[in-house]
Amino acid sequence: MSDTGSEQTEAWTILRMLQWTTDHLKKYGSSSPRLDAEVLFAHARNCQRIDLYAAFNEDPPEAVKAIFRDLVKRRAKGEPVAYLVGKKEFFSLSFLVNNACLIPRNETEHIITECIDRIKKNPPQSPLRIADVCTGSGCIAVTIAKECQRLGFPAELIAIDLSTQALEVAKQNIQLHNVQNSVKALQGDLLDVTPGATPEAIPENSCDFILSNPPYISDEEYLKLDKSVRDYEPKIALVSSPSGLEIIRRLIDQAAAKLKTGGWLIFEHSPMIAQECNSLLLQSKTPTGPWADIRLVKDLAGLARVSIARKP
Ligand SMILES: C[S@@+](CC[C@H](N)C(=O)[O-])C[C@H]1O[C@@H](n2cnc3c(N)ncnc32)[C@H](O)[C@@H]1O
Repeated sequence: MSDTGSEQTEAWTILRMLQWTTDHLKKYGSSSPRLDAEVLFAHARNCQRIDLYAAFNEDPPEAVKAIFRDLVKRRAKGEPVAYLVGKKEFFSLSFLVNNACLIPRNETEHIITECIDRIKKNPPQSPLRIADVCTGSGCIAVTIAKECQRLGFPAELIAIDLSTQALEVAKQNIQLHNVQNSVKALQGDLLDVTPGATPEAIPENSCDFILSNPPYISDEEYLKLDKSVRDYEPKIALVSSPSGLEIIRRLIDQAAAKLKTGGWLIFEHSPMIAQECNSLLLQSKTPTGPWADIRLVKDLAGLARVSIARKP
């Protein structure tokens, strides 16, 4: 983005910068270079992306160009757009993110729809108790809280994470979306909440739903992940060592105790371990019998992405 030779007289309008940046980011391997350019420019100009369309011919102030140039340099090195702009959309809500938490993914929205569909089919008589285990940015807990509010179902949610830094992000999102009355963020190892944080925070047989997008990447798969994921997203959010199944196995065991009779466990996994997750559910037992209604849900790409089971 520097004027040289015959280009000297042509102004660096927003449109020209977007076109130049699109080509540049494409060369550096972005799979969505135009979108990246627009999101980054809107962030630098402190406006909505849609506002750019009415301002294509504007020659923006040098300060905006300088911010944009810096963002583009970082993006070209692989830094995810969501971390650069500090937010990511999930289920049509905007979530604050930083490199202490995973960037929410679209696939995870299946957990929301599967949970809300079940609540709607069987409206609760008393406030629902829902745990979001491995909450990260808090996107699952906050979205469920907002959906329950919208539908008029009272709900108490617990959002748990092992990482204090991730939990800080979850707390910010709980405030941002004004659900602090219904969502409590707690540090814990899966459903084992820090002793003393809240005595008896999650008693046995107490949860209507246990939702989770846990770490599920094996050591081997981790090495094959996109470099920008490995370089920027927290390893603790991704890897369950060594096979990818260790955390899910513990989650299934703990959920068997913490769910009420009739309560649902809904969790995400990699399609590569979908059959193993299914087998774990089929082989393990809850205190009230074998898991019931075991199901695999496919994502929009047709890959088995979410497992569901009910405590009988
Ligand atoms: C895949 S991320 C999911 C984040 C968020 N729920 C989402 O869907 O975007 C997994 C999260 O689990 C947390 N985590 C890892 N091991 C954990 C454990 N043993 N107990 C609780 N949280 C854990 C990580 O810190 C990370 O925030």
